[in-house]
Amino acid sequence: MSLDLADEEPPESDDGAWLSCIECGNAIAPFEDVIYRCPDCEGLLEVRYADYPTFESFSGEGVWRYADALPVEREVTIEEGATPLYEVPRLEDELGVASLRVKHEGMNPTGSFKDRGMTVGVGVASRLGVDRLACASTGNTSAALAAYGGRAGMETLVLLPAGKVAAGKIAQASLHGARILEVDDNFDTCLDIVQDLAARGEAYLLNSLNPFRLEGQKTIGFEILERHREDYGEFPDRIVLPVGNAGNTAALYKCFRELVRSGSLDEGEVPKLTGVQAEGAAPMVEAVENGWSEVKRWEEVETRATAIRIGNPVNAPKALPGIRATDGTAVAVSDAEITDAQRALAGEGVGVEPASAASVAGLRKLRENGVVESDERVVCLTTGHLLKDPDAAAEAGVEPESVPGDTEGVLEHLAE
Ligand code: F0G
Repeated sequence: MSLDLADEEPPESDDGAWLSCIECGNAIAPFEDVIYRCPDCEGLLEVRYADYPTFESFSGEGVWRYADALPVEREVTIEEGATPLYEVPRLEDELGVASLRVKHEGMNPTGSFKDRGMTVGVGVASRLGVDRLACASTGNTSAALAAYGGRAGMETLVLLPAGKVAAGKIAQASLHGARILEVDDNFDTCLDIVQDLAARGEAYLLNSLNPFRLEGQKTIGFEILERHREDYGEFPDRIVLPVGNAGNTAALYKCFRELVRSGSLDEGEVPKLTGVQAEGAAPMVEAVENGWSEVKRWEEVETRATAIRIGNPVNAPKALPGIRATDGTAVAVSDAEITDAQRALAGEGVGVEPASAASVAGLRKLRENGVVESDERVVCLTTGHLLKDPDAAAEAGVEPESVPGDTEGVLEHLAE
């Protein structure tokens, strides 16, 4: 499998960027019609460029540092990106790898990586002149869409699985002014409905099926590679990340291929993409383990990590080849393992929501079974902030203790 991008002819009305079908190579002008899939074969679309970025072409801070690799100009922004790449020395020691860093995407404006996709996706929506934006969401996408839609002055509609979205995320979507439609079914059904609404022209779809959103998320990869090389003089051997719809996995793979294409990254230097799912929602892991070329949809899904409670990873046709071409893998972890990892991260000051901790739980498992070796430099991606899911945090954390309202009483309690 190639780590380079295919040579393709741009469409006639070429803007320097165009859309290409990953199945049939159909090249389509990007801003003439609203389009999410190939009109000929229904394949997923990817953005292509006349020129691909080099590290030297980047300047500035945050997502828009990478403007040369993005399809629109900086327009709808709340200063997303430029997230920390934390050292976690105790976890690094415990897991026994050459180095371990945590890319904490929870440090974005709305507390998740979705902001990177929205600054680009809502920018495209504005260029297309649409007036209503919509997404299905396990929570974070809805929070980000509500914020960026509000910023751009557009109406936003979010469809959520009722009772399965963490409190912080609903609060965000609500205060940023989205219309919140709660569906009595799971996320995958919400996404089916939103795709229908979009096909009928009722709203502009901003789930990660939208190829422009993944362009913004690609910048996670640029940031990791730049910073890692600055700190260690080399790129990481492996990036471990939680997988839901597999949008990030697809976006990172695209980042690597663009850099290979521009000659900025050798094929041998591409990090191994390693996806982690919760055991109760692991269709990608099933496909990787069985060597399938397609993912089978799981109708029933359950996990405490509600952000990745997804049975039909729509970006699998982009992400599976990425995992295979980079010699990566995928692994499933239990809810108990996720909670342990969430506590371990929090113990080093890194507060993440359960789905994010899946990356560290997955790494731990892959160290135990010897798939990840001790000489590897690893980056774990943590995708959302602890405060997104305060109930999960409180359950995993220590119990408050009740004490009397005077110093003597407090001292006595502490001495007990
Ligand atoms: N981690 C968090 C915190 C997420 O919110 C999501 C996805 C993922 C990981 C998975 O990322 O889909 O790119 O594989 N959340 C979406 C949402 C589905 O609606 O907020 P992926």
